[in-house]
This record gives sequence, structure tokens and C-alpha cells, in this order.
Amino acid sequence: MAPTNGPGMHFTIGFERGDLKQLHAHWDEIVSNQRWSEGPFTDSFERKWSEHNNCGSVAFSSWAGGAVAALEFFEVRGKTVLCPSNTFMATPLSVLRAGGHVQFVDCNMSDLCVSLDDLRAKIDQYSPVAVWLVHIGGHIAFQVEEIAQLCRERGIILLEDCAHAHGASWNGRRPGTWGDAGVYSFAPTKTISTGEGGMLVSQREDLLEFARAFRNYGKFDYEVPGLNYRMSEFTAALGCVQIDRLDDIVSWKNEFASTHLDGRYENRVLFPDGMVSGYYKYIVFEEIEGSTGKVYDDPCHRIMKRRDTLPNTEAVATNHWCVPLYYRGADSLQGRRALR
Ligand SMILES: Cc1ncc(COP(=O)(O)O)c(C=O)c1O
Repeated sequence: MAPTNGPGMHFTIGFERGDLKQLHAHWDEIVSNQRWSEGPFTDSFERKWSEHNNCGSVAFSSWAGGAVAALEFFEVRGKTVLCPSNTFMATPLSVLRAGGHVQFVDCNMSDLCVSLDDLRAKIDQYSPVAVWLVHIGGHIAFQVEEIAQLCRERGIILLEDCAHAHGASWNGRRPGTWGDAGVYSFAPTKTISTGEGGMLVSQREDLLEFARAFRNYGKFDYEVPGLNYRMSEFTAALGCVQIDRLDDIVSWKNEFASTHLDGRYENRVLFPDGMVSGYYKYIVFEEIEGSTGKVYDDPCHRIMKRRDTLPNTEAVATNHWCVPLYYRGADSLQGRRALR
């Protein structure tokens, strides 16, 4: 789709124009069936996402709704939650909104995600109730297995921020399935978008049930302290189209990366065997012409005026850039090949 975003926003929405007809048919159906919310498209989007992600799914009006639902379920109020500083402010803000205290963890230089060594140290220092692991850039955190094991051993809840990680996998396993829950975002910059929206994923039926009540004012017994975080049926219909196209978009991006970018950028994030990145970003550790900038310019601890010492986070913030890698559609040369 042609660039539609405003000044200073350099991205192209991941959408296949060939899907417009299907989308309009869904929207026509919604208009005539008079179910504009809490209807069959929300159910269908969740079913499709569950199948894709291999765990239960609850749709929200944003990542934030799903994140706060999970944090409320695990009762973090008054307790410490560890969070990487190399992330979007949404991650620590979700903890504050749920009444928790944030302490920051450093990242690795290799994958830009939470460092196992620093996590171990911060667990000893702060005795957290939960940890946010953010899969930065569209790949899965390289130490996800060890981090999940450490959290299990220490009785700590592990939450995966999957806002960047649509379509990623590691030996077939999807983001959000290592931890107690994962949360995706469908904001416009993401690999696939529904305009706004989020999806909470979990293998815990008790959390999924809580999340369904949380997004809907706690209906019907009002024991769950929620508000309105519902996804509209129009948004969910777009989600149904987008999840059906996700594998194509991710294979297009992977083919584009290996054909056109990997040969030019040796100094890039290098993935371990068996990992497929969703390529939300193509990250290199050298300043390049035509970069779309950084994933994040300012680490959260600096924005929040904290005095933490997080050397890798500081180094990553000054020393990474993103190469443009946006889905150009099945009509493009790479698209035709990737979709064959
Ligand atoms: C890492 C990360 N977490 C959370 C969010 C928040 O998502 P949303 O805007 O859907 O609430 C984003 C979105 O930009 C993000 O990049």
C-alpha cells in the first residue's frame, strides 16, 4: 500500500491491496447484520490468532488493554515488575497503570532484548513478582528459553511483549508461548495492523477468562475490575484479513532481506538457527544512508529520569539503525515470488 503516514513517520502499512475486496465484503456484512461489536468477527479473529499462535487469544482495542489485563490478573499492585529499558514507554507505563513499581534491566548487544545475566542480578536485588520480556525488532529474544526457565524456578510471572513479533517463530514455536502471557499490538507501524488493536495470548484458561471480562467492564458479575477495551467488529474483520495474510507478508520480508539486504549489511542482528524473524525492523549496527532511524532513540530509564546504570542499553541506543523493509505487495517482483 502507498505510504499514508504523516510527516516524520517513515513506514508503509503492511497490507495486501488484493485483500480489499474481501475486507469490503466483511464490512458490508457487518453493516447489514447490525453487530458492530461483540460479534462473530471478533470470535473469528481470536480463533484464527489462536490457531496461528498455538494458544488461546483475546482481542483488545490496543496492546495496552491486554497488558493491563494481564498485570491486573497477576496482581502486581504494590509489587515490583522488571522491565527492559530498551523498549517503548508502553511497557513500563503498563506496570505503573496497574499499580506496580518498575525496575529496569539491561539488554544484550546481540539481540537488543533482556540480558539473562542482568535479569538474574535484578531478580536477586528486587525480588520482582513479574518480568516483561520484549521481543525487540520482530525476532524472538535469543535467551527466551533460559529466561522462562529462570522465571519458573524463581516463581516469577513472565510476560512477553510481542508488539513487534508478529509472524516470528523459533523452531516453529511462536512468541507469547514461553511466558504466562504475551501481548501483540496492531498499531499502524506494526508488521500487520488493524489501525488500532491488541491480542493477549496465553495457555492459561483462567487468565483468558479474566481478560474477556476485563475488556468488557467485568460483565456480568462485575468482579473483574475492567473497563471498555473491546475491539469493534470492523477492526476484527480487518484482523481476520490480516492474519490470513501474515505468513505471506513475513515470507516476503524474509525473501527481500535475504535477496537484497543481507549481502550488504554484514554488521546486522544475526539470528540463531531455526529462528524466523517477522522483520518488524531490519537492524544494523552501523550508520547507513537512507535509514528509517532507530527502533528507539531514548531508553525508558532516561525518559523517566532514572539513574540506572545500563551500559548495553546505552550502547544500543547510540549504535543501531534500521534499514527500510516494508511489504510492497504481491504485485511487486519479490511479492510474486514469495507468494507463489
Ligand atoms: C514494544 C511495544 N510495546 C507496546 C506497544 C503499545 O501498543 P499499543 O499502541 O497497541 O497499545 C508498542 C507500540 O508501539 C510497542 O512498540
